[in-house]
Amino acid sequence: MDLRSSCPLTLLLVLALMLPIFANASSRLYIVYMGEKKHDDPSVVTASHHDALTSVFGSKDEAIKSIVYSYKHGFSGFAAMLTESQADELAKLPGVVIVKPNTYHKAHTTRSWDFLGLSYYEQSSLLKKANYGEDVIIGVVDSGIWPESRSFDDKGYGPVPARWKGKCQTGAAFNTTGCNRKIIGARWYSGDIPDELLKGEYMSPRDLAGHGTHCASTIAGRQVWNVSHRQGGLGAGVGRGGAPRARLAVYKACWGAKATCGDAALLAAIDDAINDGVDVLSLSLGGYGEVPGTLHAVARGITVVFAGGNSGPVPQSVANAVPWAITVAASTIDRSFPTVMSLGNKEKLVGQSLNYNATMNSSNFHMLVDGLRCDEESLASINVTGKIVLCSAPLEASASTPKQALAATVIGVMKGRAEGIIFAQYSANILDDLESCNLLLPASCVLVDYEMAARIASYANKARKPVVKISRAVTVVGNGVLAPRIAAFSSRGPSTELPAILKPDVAAPGVSILAAVGDSYQFMSGTSMACPHVSAVAALLKSVHPDWSPAMIKSAIVTTASVTDRFGMPIQAEGVPRKVADPFDFGGGHVDPDKSVDPGLVYDIDPKEYTKFFNCTLGPKDDCESYMGQLYQLNLPSIAVPDLKDSVTVWRTVTNVGGPEATYKVAIEAPAGVTMSVEPSMITFTRGGNRSATFKVTFTAKQRVQGGYTFGSLTWLDGVTHSVRIPLAVRTIIQDFVSDTS
Ligand SMILES: *[C@@H]1O[C@H](CO)[C@@H](O)[C@H](O)[C@H]1NC(C)=O
Ligand SMILES: *[C@@H]1O[C@H](CO)[C@@H](O)[C@H](O)[C@H]1NC(C)=O
Ligand SMILES: *[C@@H]1O[C@H](CO)[C@@H](O)[C@H](O)[C@H]1NC(C)=O
Ligand SMILES: *[C@@H]1O[C@H](CO)[C@@H](O)[C@H](O)[C@H]1NC(C)=O
Ligand SMILES: *[C@@H]1O[C@H](CO)[C@@H](O)[C@H](O)[C@H]1NC(C)=O
Ligand SMILES: *[C@@H]1O[C@H](CO)[C@@H](O)[C@H](O)[C@H]1NC(C)=O
Ligand SMILES: *[C@@H]1O[C@H](CO)[C@@H](O)[C@H](O)[C@H]1NC(C)=O
Repeated sequence: MDLRSSCPLTLLLVLALMLPIFANASSRLYIVYMGEKKHDDPSVVTASHHDALTSVFGSKDEAIKSIVYSYKHGFSGFAAMLTESQADELAKLPGVVIVKPNTYHKAHTTRSWDFLGLSYYEQSSLLKKANYGEDVIIGVVDSGIWPESRSFDDKGYGPVPARWKGKCQTGAAFNTTGCNRKIIGARWYSGDIPDELLKGEYMSPRDLAGHGTHCASTIAGRQVWNVSHRQGGLGAGVGRGGAPRARLAVYKACWGAKATCGDAALLAAIDDAINDGVDVLSLSLGGYGEVPGTLHAVARGITVVFAGGNSGPVPQSVANAVPWAITVAASTIDRSFPTVMSLGNKEKLVGQSLNYNATMNSSNFHMLVDGLRCDEESLASINVTGKIVLCSAPLEASASTPKQALAATVIGVMKGRAEGIIFAQYSANILDDLESCNLLLPASCVLVDYEMAARIASYANKARKPVVKISRAVTVVGNGVLAPRIAAFSSRGPSTELPAILKPDVAAPGVSILAAVGDSYQFMSGTSMACPHVSAVAALLKSVHPDWSPAMIKSAIVTTASVTDRFGMPIQAEGVPRKVADPFDFGGGHVDPDKSVDPGLVYDIDPKEYTKFFNCTLGPKDDCESYMGQLYQLNLPSIAVPDLKDSVTVWRTVTNVGGPEATYKVAIEAPAGVTMSVEPSMITFTRGGNRSATFKVTFTAKQRVQGGYTFGSLTWLDGVTHSVRIPLAVRTIIQDFVSDTS
């Protein structure tokens, strides 16, 4: 039983899915990447693919038959059914850069925009300046779209931008009326998808899983009045996307109820999106990135935004850590759903629930029983029939996650025919999971912390006939709710493959986000929900600054992010234990849209640098060893030095995008155990002078210790309005091996 109602979207290779289609075949699907396309005419590019394949198949007919996708717009390559030896042969051909088997990934209200301060009406807001994202085109590669949702109504929209080259690909329950002036393009890619996932699916851009619709409406949904979670009243308000007048281009590459995506289909979608003319690509997917489709997008000026994954709070779990993309962590917003539990002794305690359904209104008292851990052993001796059961997730965080424990507990008490549960756990942001619980336990599912549970247990164990009444949840928003916090499930840095690239880049709301699903609106949680928030901000920035490169847009978002909440308190990270958030939790901090429009300085990168990076990460070539050892020289808006022995010097270049005359002074917060100097410590920009300036940062280890990261920041201040902050992470080492396990 899968209790995750919305989207798990973790970095999960669903290898098992591949078995049914490949069990009896000696050939399987491979992705063959051939780098930049060498010709503008797609048919010439395709001919080169046929030639390559013909040389291994012997027959041109066989070669053509083997092709599942052909990539010929944004870059060159194909996905084809090959035997292992054919794949080996192809890999040796000149011009073939990568050959890898196809793999599958899980695709990882609207209060969140008000919480981010992105005011709909205020003249000075980024939204106004960007004219609500008018005519920016955002490509959403996901599980498709539900075109009838009110969020995608195109009333009042101007004609489709003339530069748009995409199309509306029809199919099951999706004719040309599925596209309009809001959804200006829709395509689908089912070539590499196992039959099992296609059962019950719409063979069209129509969204079965709901995930793609949710993400798309978070990015660009128009204003819709009076929406709430499943129309039940929770989270009620005006639903809107971050760039409400932007246009959507939908690429359905994820299939089945859980939105599972294959690399080959994703690459095909990205190849088309580059050619269609999107400005931003939003990818709320796990574990993708090693095949360079997105690199070509960035080289063409398209900002690429990825979800960081939902494998937190485990360290070293962040996914999609490529330097050219923005990788997003998830945070909570200032909204909660308190639910009053009245005990028989008149005591009233508060938990959180999704009790919005009137028929679920357990207006009556139910018998209450302490089920302890509610595992098989404890339930064997307790009669839970007809009762509300108090259950606790294991205190040992290692035993199982609260999410897994909740699932197991619900099944356990349901077998005993319980009516409801009160579930104790550390704050793990699993409110959405109560949706499935509510379907199984009619009287209610409520979350509490261990302190509350102890008070309920004390009553339950003392009273002769303990009873409890659970009220409907109410919605509370605003200052009373401590937020943002980094969600427990949000994947954490450092990146295992690329520790010299600090990831994630930034955090955005991703817990209980209300957005469109089918004809209704629902809460979903995940970095998948955080990613669209940053995609929308990138779209607005693109609208205000059409000449900015993806690196500049990313820099503006990262350097203006906030590391404190609105009371000036450090943002915390949920997890075991809860702690002050550091750059491995949220990169530069929590996204601040209004500030990002005017960052003062930006850290720009020539896409050629990414290509060099990519060429070297494929496997050491010629001078790559020294390059890889110096990865921290990539001009990113962050610095990560994973191997500081004595002293390391890092170079960065900033470009002035503020007023032509400005003087910036540096402020540093050196990582503990490290001395740090910046030269020059003052930069002056003059009218007509060079708009860029290079500075040097030297880190010197104060003591020789093996392993352990410490954090700091480097901020350029103009003393007026601009504060350009980048996060730092430094690990000192003695030996070259570093392993954080003892
Ligand atoms: C197209 O689809 C819409 C919605 O599914 C439907 O109302 C309409 O009749 C269809 N039009 C045609 C020409 O089939
Ligand atoms: C909002 O929805 C509620 C309940 O669904 C309804 O009673 C109310 O009239 C609606 N308000 C508006 C402005 O549509
Ligand atoms: C309320 O819950 C009941 C039982 O779980 C279900 O049958 C009903 O459809 C729900 N109503 C709404 C509006 O969600
Ligand atoms: C829900 O509870 C309230 C009081 O808590 C009661 O007035 C109302 O009748 C209940 N509704 C249903 C459908 O049980
Ligand atoms: C469990 O409790 C229910 C309701 O109180 C009762 O009907 C049932 O007989 C009890 N079962 C046992 C095994 O005591
Ligand atoms: C990367 O490798 C390709 C060949 O695979 C080559 O054409 C290109 O020049 C290289 N780029 C850089 C910047 O090293
Ligand atoms: C401007 O400064 C940048 C960064 O220091 C440098 O690379 C570039 O050569 C300079 N341009 C001119 C025209 O001096």
